[in-house]
Amino acid sequence: MNTHLSQRAHWAGGQPISDLMSRALANPRLISLAAGFVDQQTLPVEATRRALDAVFAQVSEAQASLQYGATPGFAPLRQEILGRVLAADAPFALGPAPTLEQVVLTAGSNQLLHLIAESVMDPGDIVLCTSPTYLVFLGTVQHLGGRAIGVAMDDHGMIPEALEDALRRLEKAGELPRVKLIYLVPYYDNPSGVTTSLARRAAIVELARRWSKAGKIHVIEDAAYRELRYEGEDIPSIRAADPDGQTVIVAGTFSKSFSPGLRVGWGVLPAHLVGPVCDLKGNIDFGSPNFNQHLMAKVLEQGLHEQHVAAIRASYRLKMHSMLDAAEEYWSRLPGVAWRRPQGGLYVWATLPEDLHTGSDGPLFDRALEEGVLYVPGEFCYPAEGEAVCKNTMRLSFGVQSPERIRQGMAALARAIEHCMSSCTSHAPRAADVSSKV
Ligand SMILES: Cc1ncc(COP(=O)(O)O)c(C=O)c1O
Repeated sequence: MNTHLSQRAHWAGGQPISDLMSRALANPRLISLAAGFVDQQTLPVEATRRALDAVFAQVSEAQASLQYGATPGFAPLRQEILGRVLAADAPFALGPAPTLEQVVLTAGSNQLLHLIAESVMDPGDIVLCTSPTYLVFLGTVQHLGGRAIGVAMDDHGMIPEALEDALRRLEKAGELPRVKLIYLVPYYDNPSGVTTSLARRAAIVELARRWSKAGKIHVIEDAAYRELRYEGEDIPSIRAADPDGQTVIVAGTFSKSFSPGLRVGWGVLPAHLVGPVCDLKGNIDFGSPNFNQHLMAKVLEQGLHEQHVAAIRASYRLKMHSMLDAAEEYWSRLPGVAWRRPQGGLYVWATLPEDLHTGSDGPLFDRALEEGVLYVPGEFCYPAEGEAVCKNTMRLSFGVQSPERIRQGMAALARAIEHCMSSCTSHAPRAADVSSKV
């Protein structure tokens, strides 16, 4: 019997990353520099135990945590998050301070991204994002029948002039009313590692407001990695540049800074989106796991989150340097190979010579697997429309492996790249070539 699947089920299919992950799981000896997971070795077992003891110290609180919760989430946790968001941007925020009602808790920030997109987009509607961008969000847009259009970026984030050009072109084509969202990962971007500069943040909010002529264009600020800074200073959020608090949606998560298994994400929404998002959420799950939210509230109240963040920053800083040092040591002799130094997050973005494709159906990917290393082909991270797909790119993650395994993985990748270069004469390494950083 034929099962009729919905249009959305079809749109949701064919995510390339699942195949990649099953390859990694099938071979445990493989050094995976692909998964964007956090480091299992530093997950906060003791801190979580202490928070659990605190939730269970009083029977009434334990019972409350085991009951259904409210759709927008556990109010004390929302209050803690609000306090932190306000404190982080305090001296810089232009607009009115958001209220508790504007903070909504979700099952990871992926659920929030999905709810936002579903609240404002119909099939055929458009999201403008950097090229490349967070590949899971591309899947969300596709699943909703939306169109993701890539806008050029550089070392400072999305280029405002390129964003305005895209908006102008869409207006000319009569498609401006279709543009609903601008999506950015402004802190240590997944995948590019870039941090959007302060000037660009303000410029993008200004453009979103000015071009909201045919309908509101919201900016999603996906701040998943804000806490994972290893160098430089924290910079104010995009929300801080929103003068009336009507344009920017902040998506945050405790997945990277504490534990992805708890699935606690959050959003700070413009007031007019709270109702629609909670209506959708109520239809899906009546609220995200209440127990986990009680636990997370205790983690924050007892200062366990800050302690953990300090510890993992030190550990990830080491890993990032291990990857960058290994790139310097093994890759700098490879002509046309370049990589970007992030200031935080979990990713290093690398670019190879133009005709050396990194795709999972190409020789480099196979050779890398033979050498025992896995990466994410950059092409998975490009929107289907807009800026051209750069097939010579790769995303490397330093989150999961030990510093030593990162080094070994980078050496193995260098051997794979070298092999593919020498099997193509135009890429034979020349002694005089020097690598550049992207
Ligand atoms: C840019 C970005 N946003 C959001 C998420 C979602 O994380 P979660 O749903 O675990 O909160 C991730 C996870 O990798 C991410 O990289």
